[in-house]
Amino acid sequence: MGKTIGVLTGGGDCPGLNAVLRAIVKHATEDHCWEVVGFEDGFQGIYERRYKFLRREDVRGLLTRGGTILGSSNKSNPFSYPVKAPGGTIEVRDVSADMVRTLRELDLEALIVTGGDGSMLFASGLWERGGVPVVGVPKTIDNDLAATDVTFGFHTAVQVATDALDRLHTTAESHDRIMLCEVMGRDAGWIALYAGLAAGADVILIPEIPYDVDRIVACVRRRMVRGITYSLVVVSEGARPAGGDVSIIEAGAVTHMPRLGGAAERLAQEIKKRVELEVRTTVLGHVQRGGTPTAFDRVLGTRFGVAAVDAVARGEFGKMVALRGTDIIAVPFSEVAGKQRLVDARNEHLRVARTTGVELGG
Ligand code: F6P
Repeated sequence: MGKTIGVLTGGGDCPGLNAVLRAIVKHATEDHCWEVVGFEDGFQGIYERRYKFLRREDVRGLLTRGGTILGSSNKSNPFSYPVKAPGGTIEVRDVSADMVRTLRELDLEALIVTGGDGSMLFASGLWERGGVPVVGVPKTIDNDLAATDVTFGFHTAVQVATDALDRLHTTAESHDRIMLCEVMGRDAGWIALYAGLAAGADVILIPEIPYDVDRIVACVRRRMVRGITYSLVVVSEGARPAGGDVSIIEAGAVTHMPRLGGAAERLAQEIKKRVELEVRTTVLGHVQRGGTPTAFDRVLGTRFGVAAVDAVARGEFGKMVALRGTDIIAVPFSEVAGKQRLVDARNEHLRVARTTGVELGG
């Protein structure tokens, strides 16, 4: 009898996940004659034993489809899992042993975990503490995973944000307004930096560089002196004033991270106090995560899916596939788990932004 491998998509969804699933199923079933079991809603599907066999016909036409056909969850940490207690209350428990048991009962040869930093941490825990043969595939629009040059989903998010900024640009100019656009990215400013550069934003604010409102106002005024009575400002959701905190709209808990939001509107209020131009705020939100992936993300997702199956075939576990230069490699979880790749102060894109007159706020 042939092998069976498991796959799940964990954390927030992102464009390109279905391309990964398609590649895994095609390569595993057609080239190796393995069966593929897909767990629903990330790690939750392992705990609740919700899974389905994925066949060739299940992944037909998936390249262009956003989201994930398996569903995902960003509240299912195997080591701090919310379980309903007999009285109806929710208790947070370590259910990793239950998950390992389920995986053993299914006699899986390997588990491919597609996810972001959280999912890689859980995958690494299941490998090191539970002995589960795991291979990781990096995804996230935030592009903040260590050990890979880029994650799929990022380019799509940047393109969506760039398109939105281009549209805000023309209406800002027509109405002599300061347009603020808040983009996602959590603690990492990659989306803001790339989209801001691509759209020719006047100000780009990222979490890695706390901002000084006076510098932003000075930039707007310099433009006004030159007769330009509008400005385009990109604000990372994690951007914060120097000496201030990030803007949170929902507190986190053991099972999930805090929800960021409100960074652009908070800044808008400060700018309004200092400049006579009208100020408007747009929050892009999940528009950046949904919809069809760009060609780049479809190709990268497909390459990662094939590479993950190759790693299983080689018996190379406890690793995440990654893009390094033009090559796909596999790196140990120890190089990834719990590490974030933020925009470094010496990043070349920052220098390019400064050199081309972009105000970075600090
Ligand atoms: O990590 C991806 C991401 O989209 C972040 O950029 C954002 O802060 C977060 O997820 C939003 O999560 P949720 O979908 O739970 O609101």
